[in-house]
Amino acid sequence: MFDVEAFHSWGVRDIESRGNPPPTLEAPRATGVFGILGGNVKRLLIVYHSQGGKTQRMADAVHRGACEETSVETRLQRAFDTSVHDVLDADGYVLGTPENFGYMSGALKDFFDRTYYPTEGKLSARPYAVFIGCSNDGSGALRNIERIVKGMQLRLVAEPVIVRGEMTPEDEGRCLELGQAIAAGMDLGIF
Ligand SMILES: Cc1cc2nc3c(=O)[nH]c(=O)nc-3n(C[C@H](O)[C@H](O)[C@H](O)COP(=O)(O)O)c2cc1C
Repeated sequence: MFDVEAFHSWGVRDIESRGNPPPTLEAPRATGVFGILGGNVKRLLIVYHSQGGKTQRMADAVHRGACEETSVETRLQRAFDTSVHDVLDADGYVLGTPENFGYMSGALKDFFDRTYYPTEGKLSARPYAVFIGCSNDGSGALRNIERIVKGMQLRLVAEPVIVRGEMTPEDEGRCLELGQAIAAGMDLGIF
């Protein structure tokens, strides 16, 4: 059975040794903070939750895409493990969740509950994007994420990716492109 709890990874392709694939489900749990690339490098934080593994696969694909932009420092992190410091430390965000009962997962909601007020007024206009795994809808999760994130004054910079039902190679490609697009936009200073 897929063990979500055992998974946690982050990295930049540069750091992981060039040419190797980005982290996989076997990647060791990481506790690092941004800053390995140093300087004025932009930092992209991918925050997600997955119970059954599909949103995890989406997150992995987003991460792989973002890591193609080697001048952006990209970190993939579970919602439950993500702190206020992590949020403040990043320049942009990709948020991923399954849709549960017409809403985001409890884990992503917990992330917002913990970080909303401590980051209030400090994230203005930072870019974000969203991906959602669901069976046949996704609109409730998206709508409620957008409501909260509007209050955080983040800026939606890419079309949300919603994967309904089984994940196909095309869906994986959309997730990859999402990661690529936001990382490239951050690197170029567009976002
Ligand atoms: C408790 C629960 C509630 C769910 N509610 C919805 C829902 O409201 N709308 C929907 O489209 N899918 C719903 N689903 C299906 C999941 O969103 C879908 O299986 C998703 O891909 C799970 O992602 P995961 O494998 O990353 O956990 C629900 C699943 C569970 C377990």
